Amino acid sequence: MTANINYDELIPNNINLSSDRRLQRALESWHPKYINWWKSRGPDIYQDKEIYLRTAISVDKKGWAHFDHVKMPDYRWGIFLAESTADDKKINFGDHIGEPVWNEVPGEHRGALRRLIVTQGDTEPASVEQQRLLAMTAPSLVDMRNLFQVNVEEGRHLWAMVYLLMAYFGRDGREEAEELLLRSSGDSDKPRILGAFNEKTPDWLSFYMFTFFTDRDGKYQLASLAESAFDPLARSCQFMLTEEAHHMYVGETGVARVIQRACELMKTHDTDDIRQHGGIDLPLIQKYIHFHFTVSEDLFGAEKSTNAANYFTAGLKGRYLESRIQDGHKLVDDAYSVIKRNNGGFSNEEVPALDAINERLRDDYIVDCQRGVDRWNKIIADNGINFTLKLPHRAFHRAIGDFAGLPVSPEGKIISQEEYDARLSNWLPTDKDNEFVASLMMQVTEPGKFANWIAPPRVGINNQPTDFEYVKL
Ligand SMILES: [Fe+2]
Ligand SMILES: [Fe+2]
Repeated sequence: MTANINYDELIPNNINLSSDRRLQRALESWHPKYINWWKSRGPDIYQDKEIYLRTAISVDKKGWAHFDHVKMPDYRWGIFLAESTADDKKINFGDHIGEPVWNEVPGEHRGALRRLIVTQGDTEPASVEQQRLLAMTAPSLVDMRNLFQVNVEEGRHLWAMVYLLMAYFGRDGREEAEELLLRSSGDSDKPRILGAFNEKTPDWLSFYMFTFFTDRDGKYQLASLAESAFDPLARSCQFMLTEEAHHMYVGETGVARVIQRACELMKTHDTDDIRQHGGIDLPLIQKYIHFHFTVSEDLFGAEKSTNAANYFTAGLKGRYLESRIQDGHKLVDDAYSVIKRNNGGFSNEEVPALDAINERLRDDYIVDCQRGVDRWNKIIADNGINFTLKLPHRAFHRAIGDFAGLPVSPEGKIISQEEYDARLSNWLPTDKDNEFVASLMMQVTEPGKFANWIAPPRVGINNQPTDFEYVKL
């Protein structure tokens, strides 16, 4: 059945796929299983409709964002590595600093690299599974298109990791590629590897929060893998980052539009209680921020991590923008300041920098999240409304690391378990809140029309107007 497919044409690539028969054969046997996965666990409706999608057909400026109407199962999932920056590219951190980057997997790092690639790869199909029911309640055609765009690109990111597994890890890699299609988000027997990727994405506010907070975790993981001494991994991740930027844009502008609409309703009806007018109130948006931010913080792992230290020393995974950091890039004698629990509160403490690789990445992430929250607050202020959205203290509502299970308020005060339990419904979405948001979720399919709870975007996609037919229903 697959024998007649020209894979070099089907799979746009810059890895000279046609010259590698062994890799082609491995992908040929995986491809129908992937399509099967996409059809059964990807978007549950509109697989037969034409969607205005961006496809990467090369990595240069012209080719990486090619727009056309395409049915999702016909999307050309490609394999791309960012162009090499130099012929004599060098490792820029860890024990091997200054040595040439690796184009093969060194035997001693095989297990660790495989684990890093599988963990990253597992998140990609997971989010597609989490979002599979959302099209049914899309607030507009452009939002529906954005959802599908994110979905097909997460599919492509899976391809990127599967390529690495198949090209560099032999039979083990092929087995891992199969497993990536067998685990399933939220499944009790075979769940996805990381906790946040087994949570539900039940409504569109959750979707925007997820793409803002959880895709941003992805950005930081990819950015540190883009520093890797294993060059094919570094260049794969570097190219994925260009696509990831759009996912976070979808999240940030999505939340921004919900905020804008909330402000409009507050002003029109001269009340904070906009639920009766079909809007999502700012305190509820704050609760969603609490939830999605804290679940995403956990993805960075424990504050002190021997694994992360070993990955760094071995050159497998660097820090965010490693080459721009002004230090020796080895961290053997360096210190890093982290927040620790101290008597009844928290204080900063110096720890060996090598132990704090995860915490440093989480710090970079939090700074980036705060920038987005500041932009949301500007919308509220520009509407003349006195309300400020905030990121909670990093010890609030954590499930992993030093602060796991600690009863801490969003302001960072350690309180009794009783008080914590009593107040939690003020801080996190309750069943009632979720039901309310769910009650607003109704599909809007007329071009240029938007659900009542969200403002239209300022601009369309690829310079198209907002009433463009992004999905041909
Ligand atoms: Fe991704
Ligand atoms: Fe993403």
